[in-house]
Amino acid sequence: MIIKHLSLLQFRNYKRLELDFHPTMNILIGDNAVGKTNILEAIEVLSLTKSHRASDSSLIMYHKSLAKIKGTVLVDNILRKLEVDYDTVQKKTKINGTVISRISDYISSLNVIVFTPDDIEIIKGSPNIRRNLLNMELSQISKNYLSTYNQYNKLLKTRNEYLKILLTNHLADRNYLNVITEKLVEKAVFIYRYRKEYIDKVNENISSIFKDIHSFFSLKIQYEPNVSFSSYEEKVMKEELLSIYQKYSQKEQNYGMTLYGPHRDDFTFYLNEKNIKIYGSQGQQKAAVLAYKLSCIPIFLEKTGTRPVLLFDDIFSELDGKKQNKLLKYIGKDIQSIITTTDVKNIRKSLLKDAAIFTVISGNVERKM
Ligand SMILES: Nc1ncnc2c1ncn2[C@@H]1O[C@H](COP(=O)(O)OP(=O)(O)O)[C@@H](O)[C@H]1O
Ligand SMILES: [Mg+2]
Repeated sequence: MIIKHLSLLQFRNYKRLELDFHPTMNILIGDNAVGKTNILEAIEVLSLTKSHRASDSSLIMYHKSLAKIKGTVLVDNILRKLEVDYDTVQKKTKINGTVISRISDYISSLNVIVFTPDDIEIIKGSPNIRRNLLNMELSQISKNYLSTYNQYNKLLKTRNEYLKILLTNHLADRNYLNVITEKLVEKAVFIYRYRKEYIDKVNENISSIFKDIHSFFSLKIQYEPNVSFSSYEEKVMKEELLSIYQKYSQKEQNYGMTLYGPHRDDFTFYLNEKNIKIYGSQGQQKAAVLAYKLSCIPIFLEKTGTRPVLLFDDIFSELDGKKQNKLLKYIGKDIQSIITTTDVKNIRKSLLKDAAIFTVISGNVERKM
């Protein structure tokens, strides 16, 4: 998958921008606060219909009332025109000019893997950051995951509301709780198994990628649902989850809340068997997240038949010159990458030979070579 062209109108600090990308490596160079991240953010919005760092309204240029992001994407020799329009009241997504109202019909038109300096929070931050990450990735590779996940959330909300009713009204119908619980178990097990499969696949690559881009340590991630299953076989999981809900039925009613299920999932990074959150250096943590992101590429390829576009923001900070070169070499030529940095002074000329280099100067981008 390749993004060929990006067109912005009144998006952040870009009044108007027309930008052609190179099919492989693109490097955007510029000082701080000139608008490098804004370009990656625009592509992220074009892909996921929202920005990870900001609300929709902050994307519109100051003192303007609308913004447009348009992109031309090439997949399997077919050009696709994508568009996300904002005004102060609503957002519209379009594919080839047609408005698409269901988000699951839009997502996966442009697949991206995003890396930003905030991603250190994937290691340091709370579990919901890691769950959001999994959801964002899995939604891109499976419509089925996205719709099951949405159904799960609806059932979860209903179940929580009903648990609250049971708390105050002892005459309320307990059968209804059982009906919702059975439906919830169905969706929960699908989500657990999808996440488990994904994390297993990440673990097939992550350690060797970490060695290539950083150092000779073994890295792995451990999936940690808050229910311990004796196996990941569907039937077994359904039975075991159902019995958890039965066992803790009173406890959940006392809390008025569903305490078990994939909405409480987490995962942990281990470097040489040690929790990297506690024992890892800042540099190791950053490299671990990068290795994680890179290990998702073959999974996207396997599940969707095409590689995603890499949007890597400010990737060289905190890496020494040698590691910067290793990383760029690893990213290589088989995938389109759009990378931002303040400078490429440590990068070997040979690695930049086939890349397009752009300079960003407040609200404008020019191709240098
Ligand atoms: N809604 C907006 N309208 C106009 N300018 C904005 C808006 N949001 C952010 N900016 C400007 O964008 C710039 C920051 O852009 P960013 O892409 O984060 O910079 P960097 O090059 O450091 O990555 C700042 O100058 C900020 O004032
Ligand atoms: Mg930035």
